[in-house]
Amino acid sequence: MSLAEKVRQIYQQQFAETPRVFSAPGRVNIIGEHTDYNGGLVLPAAIDKAAYLAIGPANSGRGRWISADFSDEVEIDFSRITKHPGRWPNYLLGIIDQFRKDGRDPRAFNAVLAADVPIGAGLSSSAAIETVTAYAINELEQYNYSKLDLALLAQRAEHEYIGLKVGIMDMFASLHGKQGHVMRLDCRSLDYYYAPLDLANYKIVLLDTGVKHELASSEYNVRRQQCEEGVGIIRKDHPEVKQLRDVTTDMLETHKGMLDPLIYKRCYYVVEENKRVDKACEALRQGSLDKLGLLLYESHAGLQYDYEVSCRELDLLVKLVKDETFVLGARMMGGGFGGCTINIVHKDSIEALVEKIGPVYKENTGTELHHYEVVTGDGAREIS
Ligand code: GLA
Repeated sequence: MSLAEKVRQIYQQQFAETPRVFSAPGRVNIIGEHTDYNGGLVLPAAIDKAAYLAIGPANSGRGRWISADFSDEVEIDFSRITKHPGRWPNYLLGIIDQFRKDGRDPRAFNAVLAADVPIGAGLSSSAAIETVTAYAINELEQYNYSKLDLALLAQRAEHEYIGLKVGIMDMFASLHGKQGHVMRLDCRSLDYYYAPLDLANYKIVLLDTGVKHELASSEYNVRRQQCEEGVGIIRKDHPEVKQLRDVTTDMLETHKGMLDPLIYKRCYYVVEENKRVDKACEALRQGSLDKLGLLLYESHAGLQYDYEVSCRELDLLVKLVKDETFVLGARMMGGGFGGCTINIVHKDSIEALVEKIGPVYKENTGTELHHYEVVTGDGAREIS
């Protein structure tokens, strides 16, 4: 049974009514990491793993929400929307809170939620839940928000309700995804275009470290501040600079002496990573997969040494594939401190790769290595 059918069936059993069912996917990011909140460039794609929400009106002003994955159930009083002591309900509550802040008043609803986006793997399982909720409420209440408005609303929910100052990439990709394509998104102008993800005999494979270190959320917000600190100093001489996206290599080098060495490293990584996104788009266009692969390795080195958001497990996985001729490139993906590496692997060698490095990874970390072959998918939608 598909997850869409599962949530529909549970809803029918629990509420004796037929719900509407919506889905919103997780995402991968080919390149352009930690650039989104710096107004920079990213190259994500939506995947075929998603969050599914069966939803329908609740008559009493109180909604019952069921998480099929956690076998958990909560009752929500819509006249008092506040943070929930449990974790998952807050992803839905944050969205309601934002609609209210927009002057809307979504009616109470019942819901059944399930997802097959692996949690903590850096595939944006939380953004998928937030966007499916925002998308579903928008449809139910006929608010007519655009996908971009919904992405921005979901981002605000994550900032204010979850406390993570994320960029726009995850929500944007979850709403705008298109099967077979990546999106080249300019996170300053929010202009984007789709580019076919044509990898000939190669596939995108994720290698999952199976770890998520505590540092992930605190260091994320610290990185953001460090970037802003760099901008603040450069801006004194260049008032036109609003975000790191506006900083050129020349500007950065001229200001090197004025920046704390740590802040310089952070800024250097972001400025270079933005350039790599354009180079990667060019490489994809030309079918130069070798070039694309090298850019991934460069990106990882920047994330490891300059931005310092990698970890031992991620570095080990990149190191283990680096000398394999059938792997063109690899890097850590997403916020960092755990989750997956993204790899470009020859389609005939995926199993061999996992068989070879799996035991080495386990021996070094004590953790089983899981892998996922990425299949791109469409963005948020209603499932009829
Ligand atoms: C997380 C955030 C995104 C982005 C990435 C790093 O996934 O949610 O906004 O900043 O980290 O590129």
